[in-house]
Amino acid sequence: MNAVPNARPDAAATVATAISTTSAQVTVKSAEGMRDLGRRLAALLRPGDLLLLTGELGAGKTTLTRGLGEGLGVRGAVTSPTFVIARAHPPLGDGPALVHVDAYRLNGGLDEMEDLDLDVSLPESVIVVEWGDGKVEELSEDRLHIVIERAEGADGLALDEADDVRTVTLAGVGPRWAGVDLTALA
Ligand SMILES: Nc1ncnc2c1ncn2[C@@H]1O[C@H](COP(=O)(O)OP(=O)(O)O)[C@@H](O)[C@H]1O
Ligand SMILES: [Mg+2]
Repeated sequence: MNAVPNARPDAAATVATAISTTSAQVTVKSAEGMRDLGRRLAALLRPGDLLLLTGELGAGKTTLTRGLGEGLGVRGAVTSPTFVIARAHPPLGDGPALVHVDAYRLNGGLDEMEDLDLDVSLPESVIVVEWGDGKVEELSEDRLHIVIERAEGADGLALDEADDVRTVTLAGVGPRWAGVDLTALA
């Protein structure tokens, strides 16, 4: 860490805290654990939040989103969209809607998703985009990037007994996430 001349001694510590709490890593041992992480993450969310989920097929992106839907208290079960690109789940109570997008088949970025009007729904929704990295960043300067990886052994191969273990890395971008303690999710 660089020392800041003339700064009060606690200033550097405050900055360091702000930076370190913008990202976190969580080990998730089961599908139910992934849902639970979604439910707990939902408690931190508010209208206008954009989440980008990265991870190979079967990593657990939809499972995490299912927990988000349960935590937010929205209508309809979150499923893997087969033909649908996006599904809006309206709130059952006072919370935000959940808009769940699967951008797997979309390569053209937001232009290709123009019909979805994501920019229109974002202010009153939480938008979760599977495979959204590199495609929907323009929607907001504030984003939560979530990367889900299967646990690997020291040799780089998937561990047999630990097949169900996932490592979830959350990283907030923009002022919205600067003061949020994501490590509370671990
Ligand atoms: N730790 C775990 N976290 C998430 N899913 C898990 C885990 N262990 C096993 N699974 C299983 O892996 C699959 C994940 O599927 P899904 O959530 O649809 O992935 P994606 O949307 O990333 O393609 C589900 O069948 C789920 O039950
Ligand atoms: Mg999926």
